[in-house]
Amino acid sequence: MECLNKHFAEEEDSPITKELVSESFRCGRELAREARQRASKLVRSGVSLEACSPAMLHFFSSKLAGDTKKASELSNELLSATKILQMKVCSTSDVTPNTFLSFLENNPVQPRDLSCKPTKVCCVGSSKYRSIDGACNNPQHPAWGRRGAPFTRITAPRYADGIYAMPVARSGRPLPNPRVLSARVFADNPRAGSSRLLSALNMQWGQFITHDLVFQVMEATDEGGIQCCLGDGRDVLPQSMLNDKCIPICVAEDDPFYRQHGVRCLNFVRSVTAPREDCSLGHAEQMNTVTSFLDGSPLYSSDPKLAAKLRTKCGGRLKEETRKNCKGGFLPSVDDKSAVCDLRNSSEPCYLAGDNRINQTPMLAALHTLLLREHNRVADILSGLNPLWSDEKLYQEARKIVIAEIQHITYQEWLPLNFVALLWQVDTLILSLSGDIIGAYKFFAYASRAGESYLRYYRISPTSLYSRDYNEDVNPGVINSFGAAAFRFLHTLVPDTIMMCPASGQAAYLHKLSDHYFNPGLMEASPDSFDEIIRGAIAHRSGEADPHCSAEITTLLFKSHNPWGLDLVAMDIQRGRDHGIASYNDYREICGLQRARTFQDLANEISQDRINALAALYESVDDIDLFVGGALEHAAPGSVLGHTFQCVVAEQFYRTRVGDRFFYDNSEMPHSFTPEQLKELKKASMARLVCDNSRVRRVQRRAFEVESAHNPKSACDDYSAIPCVDLTAWKRPKFELYD
Ligand code: HEM
Repeated sequence: MECLNKHFAEEEDSPITKELVSESFRCGRELAREARQRASKLVRSGVSLEACSPAMLHFFSSKLAGDTKKASELSNELLSATKILQMKVCSTSDVTPNTFLSFLENNPVQPRDLSCKPTKVCCVGSSKYRSIDGACNNPQHPAWGRRGAPFTRITAPRYADGIYAMPVARSGRPLPNPRVLSARVFADNPRAGSSRLLSALNMQWGQFITHDLVFQVMEATDEGGIQCCLGDGRDVLPQSMLNDKCIPICVAEDDPFYRQHGVRCLNFVRSVTAPREDCSLGHAEQMNTVTSFLDGSPLYSSDPKLAAKLRTKCGGRLKEETRKNCKGGFLPSVDDKSAVCDLRNSSEPCYLAGDNRINQTPMLAALHTLLLREHNRVADILSGLNPLWSDEKLYQEARKIVIAEIQHITYQEWLPLNFVALLWQVDTLILSLSGDIIGAYKFFAYASRAGESYLRYYRISPTSLYSRDYNEDVNPGVINSFGAAAFRFLHTLVPDTIMMCPASGQAAYLHKLSDHYFNPGLMEASPDSFDEIIRGAIAHRSGEADPHCSAEITTLLFKSHNPWGLDLVAMDIQRGRDHGIASYNDYREICGLQRARTFQDLANEISQDRINALAALYESVDDIDLFVGGALEHAAPGSVLGHTFQCVVAEQFYRTRVGDRFFYDNSEMPHSFTPEQLKELKKASMARLVCDNSRVRRVQRRAFEVESAHNPKSACDDYSAIPCVDLTAWKRPKFELYD
């Protein structure tokens, strides 16, 4: 504080001078470093996570590599500097905190300090293949979409101080408790049941593509994860022992579930933030630690070092382990199993993949395994077709094909099934009335003013083989409210159990999800287990798309051997606040709905009983969290989401496709597939992935939907029912063998 006081005494003509900025940055750096040291000291003095606690399991995935860690430290220094500058400017002039922040947004202020260099990304030549870390996808904006980039926003953030402080209600009082909201509004409803249409594999693909697009990790110390609650969650730690990144979720004494276990505190820690590209001061922006592109990064990694470690460096293959009596390979093992898995003994499997959330559930690990096998299957075929291709060439070509399959399945199979309405809205975005390209949320605003018929009238079904809508002005970065709110609504699809179906088809075995977090051993319980999980995933139903979530994730998440776990819905709400996600009412407005002045104004989108629940919990309609308001809206026709979440999700998938120079069906690029190759890739399907990479021999054509009279199972060798991607289109003439 000494350095703050020094400046208060100084007289300045302009409120923001270079000296003031330098001084604020110096102080900010000092404060951030002190906070880091204090955090490490706390852990060393025993304020640390207990082994096998739900909080410890939550931290299993939160590891930052060296370069991203440095960037996050710099971001903390910049945030402290912004806060100090705000305090100084506002206390020595009549500038309000809000005016100060809008000034910063419009007039970037960078500390002139050597340790703060704007992000430099050098792109050498124009590569035929996408980079591992996403850099240089867009030569004009080489840092867009790269690993470690800040999330993007479509509206101003909601922080209490405009910079980083957790948001409060309009009245200045605290927002409603996230656990209370979860228990009252999202509690498991045994009557809600399962989806009539969607298979558990549909849910699993959703989580996989989430991991492909986004990964926010929590702040941690060099010594390990951050503890915010007393042991056993009996209470929040006293202030003197509390890390300043702690935002624990308090649990009421009369909580319907936790009271029987005496739990009053759920550990929760703020997400890592990222410096802006130009290192300027301003509000906090969280870091996406993976590439924002749909580029198979959970399989290949977003980190070049890990990507190299995952390769055999022979035949273009990824590392896999073989097992006795199993034809297909399994993911390689991690070096230190106890650091990332919750195993009963060290002989149980714990996998290494491009994404360290891999071991979260056996079903996630199974889908990863399927895609790992697909990469190696493709690499082997390519190597047979082009025997002189190098390891590098085989790896890159197989990777390009698998990414194309992931994109094709996501855009042609998964998105239309879950968000029918959304897909044709995304297609429509490519043309606006004037022929210009417009963003999805602007389109939504326009469309809802003009009415539904407008959408139908302008529906465009893509008929051509190639798309020509790559736009170098579209930032493919993940929108903060997509990851921290809208897409998390699909947690509602998570079923209670993992189903395993033996080949006989006569029985099905159900395993509680909560008995298998971070222990993927179920995949290898017997030589048939992997196939039984895949068979179960296409036979089992996903949860119903309504706000009711399974108790397996709302009370028992990451429970390990404990009788209680974390509450994922309460975490979703708290995470939205941590990220300063603007309110539901703000999003209504940008997505074309009327801003609500009273709770009753929500009546067109939200049912009366839910409005009553909101009015009982929130003081003002302006306080409603995006996650909560969006989740309670009626689903849009043909979608699992309501209007506001559709709008955010449409915007994201629009940017993910149109902002990706390497999107698989882009035409006229040096790296574009030939027409023959693209025709083959468009035959890819989830069903074919299952057929080609497991011993499951009968699959319904639409594997994201459960079997029915309209979607019967077909034999894998029925290629007219389940077409296959013929890779002979990749055979190159002899003179190209050395490419
Ligand atoms: C068994 C299934 C699942 C489990 C156990 C699970 C668990 C989690 C956890 C622990 C987080 C991080 C919470 C935090 O610290 O804020 C998270 C984040 C998230 N989940 Fe799930 N999830 C599952 C399925 C899904 C599905 C099916 C989807 C969507 C289709 C999804 C979408 C998301 C998104 C968008 C995030 C934010 C990611 C980020 O910002 O890094 N999840 N999930």
